[in-house]
Amino acid sequence: MNNWKLCYHLMPKTGWMNDPNGLCQFKSHYHIFYQYSPDNIFGKKICWGHYSTKDFIHYIREPIAIYPDSQYDKDGAYSGSAVVYKGKLYLFYTGNIKFEGKYDYINQGRGHFVNRVESADGQCFSKKISLLKNRDYPTSMSCHVRDPKIFLYDNSYYMILGARTVDSKGCALIYKSVDLYHWEYLFKIKNSRFFGYMWECPDILQIENRKFMLLSPQGLVPEYQKYENQYQSGYIPFESIEDMNVDAFVLLDYGFDFYAPQTFTDEEGRKILIAWMGLPDIMYFNPTIEQGWQHALTLPRELFLKNNKIYQYPIKEMEQLRLTHTHCQLKSYKEFALENQVFELHITELNDNFTISMREDTVIQYENNIFTLSFRKSGFGRNKRHLYIEEVFNITVFSDTSSLEIFINDGEYVMTSRVYDSCSCFLLKCTQDCIVDMYLLSSLHIEETV
Ligand code: FRU
Repeated sequence: MNNWKLCYHLMPKTGWMNDPNGLCQFKSHYHIFYQYSPDNIFGKKICWGHYSTKDFIHYIREPIAIYPDSQYDKDGAYSGSAVVYKGKLYLFYTGNIKFEGKYDYINQGRGHFVNRVESADGQCFSKKISLLKNRDYPTSMSCHVRDPKIFLYDNSYYMILGARTVDSKGCALIYKSVDLYHWEYLFKIKNSRFFGYMWECPDILQIENRKFMLLSPQGLVPEYQKYENQYQSGYIPFESIEDMNVDAFVLLDYGFDFYAPQTFTDEEGRKILIAWMGLPDIMYFNPTIEQGWQHALTLPRELFLKNNKIYQYPIKEMEQLRLTHTHCQLKSYKEFALENQVFELHITELNDNFTISMREDTVIQYENNIFTLSFRKSGFGRNKRHLYIEEVFNITVFSDTSSLEIFINDGEYVMTSRVYDSCSCFLLKCTQDCIVDMYLLSSLHIEETV
């Protein structure tokens, strides 16, 4: 049997994982909650799973933080975020409720409530309280209003919620609070035009003095070599939060498996992003289902601003995973032995068009400004993804047993994908001379509390 268990990515112990939730640093521990269904590989009765870490290398698998066990969330403790306030950790999430009966569950039959729990130590969580119910949303909203993300702006707390209107237009709502308990509705963000039927997991962040909204819109019409995935995740730079120019939307990732990213600011002031290394409603397949688990999270990535664009690169802590280092000049068409699939690879001094092959049948090609990632058998239905790039200077590949994260031009573009080799094929080849720096990587240390 193939071992597709990831070495240095967070994955569910059993069952299903999707969005990262409640990302924060609290009392010197980082907390990474996530959508988790331990008993169901398709994500039924979603809970909030929980990892904590001080260094992103040694993790504790904490007990489940939120179970869908109340009248406020009986059909799922859906996504949300965290705030550290007056020495306590507050988690805001969506309680999903499906009413019995014959409903379409879009405009009727569903409750999406904003709920809150709090904790003094990041481990034990209080009783749930429900802060907003569907009747508190504007009447133009369908039942789908979810994924509260709290952000601080001008010393006040704001909440952004992703939503779908009754006439199936994606949008986001903004609420304000002074005490994290009473929330006042301010406005619905104006979109310059129709941009999908639903916005999931919106997020607001500022890098240096530039403001961005992250969102995962559903229902964008695919264009030639654009929006090739079922759903997208990206960002819109903005000046005023009331008006979003959706034409400025930039994808955060161009691979097959990236969705619902969430960001937070740590005590050093770093902006860190983690996303679900997966996607809902995909046409391709994860053979890990046969092993009783599905999906994972991306590496934590630090966000930087360069030429007004968001760049992403794995946080510096990942360097602690490095075991061995090999440096060489790779001649065109010569083979380089990678030893195993768990590595970090830097390919530099690239110019012109090239084709790089690695692992079983992974091909990275750059031709006439189009960067293509393709798989055959090992993609389990993942075929090709494209990306237009003016010039490629370097590529960094974080390869794990069943994943690839490809950072192009120091993180200007990223392609994230799951990949399932069926053989031990560790050869790297490039059609042009280049410099290769390769590190074999060790696994994360995960301590079990449960
Ligand atoms: C995004 C999402 C969220 C929702 C959660 C449910 O992947 O659909 O909108 O809160 O997953 O698991």
